[in-house]
Amino acid sequence: MTTIRKAVFPAAGLGTRFLPATKAQPKEMLVLVDKPIIQYGVEEAVASGVDNIILVTGRGKNAIEDHFDVSIELETFLEARGKTELLAEIRKVSNLINFAYVRQGEPLGLGHAVLVTKELVGQEPFAVILGDDVIDADPPALRQMVDVFDRVQGPVLAVERVPEESVSSYGIVQIAETLGDGVYRVKDLVEKPRREDAPSNLAIIGRYILTPDIFPALKATVADRTGEIQLTNGLRRLLQDRPIYACEVKGVRHDTGNKLGFLKAVVYFALRRPDLAEPFRKYLRENAGI
Ligand code: UTP
Repeated sequence: MTTIRKAVFPAAGLGTRFLPATKAQPKEMLVLVDKPIIQYGVEEAVASGVDNIILVTGRGKNAIEDHFDVSIELETFLEARGKTELLAEIRKVSNLINFAYVRQGEPLGLGHAVLVTKELVGQEPFAVILGDDVIDADPPALRQMVDVFDRVQGPVLAVERVPEESVSSYGIVQIAETLGDGVYRVKDLVEKPRREDAPSNLAIIGRYILTPDIFPALKATVADRTGEIQLTNGLRRLLQDRPIYACEVKGVRHDTGNKLGFLKAVVYFALRRPDLAEPFRKYLRENAGI
């Protein structure tokens, strides 16, 4: 069975949709209940067998590094106060896994963010996780994809069926062949098509398993009108040389990169917390007419 050892987390975007919150704080550190968004993705990666996280960062992202680092002062403080449960929780975060950081320099697009990890990834298949997409799933979303990778031995894109009016917000896959159980061979990829041009409603979401030949493909990919190198365009190029697969992930996905999705995720996770669910539901019933 294949093990995907490395997961790339592109986190160098500017997070403009969350300004002013993201002026001095990365959007990856916005909190769903009491855990930063990025920690959900890191925990998913760990639960899927990954043991190395490669974070692509940019200016003002130090809080992410600090979050996953050991904090001696905090640990000493909690220890002295006998707060053992909190101490264990804090240690769990810093003991999670190995972290490596690479700077993107300028946010030249998701494809470019993946390209700067070339040396750290090396010659092995690897995962890319967009932390914005928080997926509640059992088995974890990436684990489901690793199982598909085992079968097909080629790049696997996570996809989800979206309403027709939403296709223009996503990369959409055109299907060449259905392999069963929500797995497809991809014929083509279209970035943000108009509704009438979309070849399907299968949208690429924030999880990929890629092979090292994506790097030369991305290097050969020219920037689009906005000056960004798109991962979808790199994948299209790669598709000329090898089959690429798509896998419908089973689970509940929250796009926390937009405000409404973020709010829904906060409510969703709060209602699943044993210590909060009941009083929070009562509050919603009494104040929000739910
Ligand atoms: P988004 O499209 O969500 O962009 O990027 P963004 O800058 O983070 O947020 P908005 O749209 O301005 O609010 C998708 C993912 O790709 C990363 C982002 O950090 C995010 O995880 N990314 C994007 C990079 O790492 N580098 C880039 O140049 C662009």
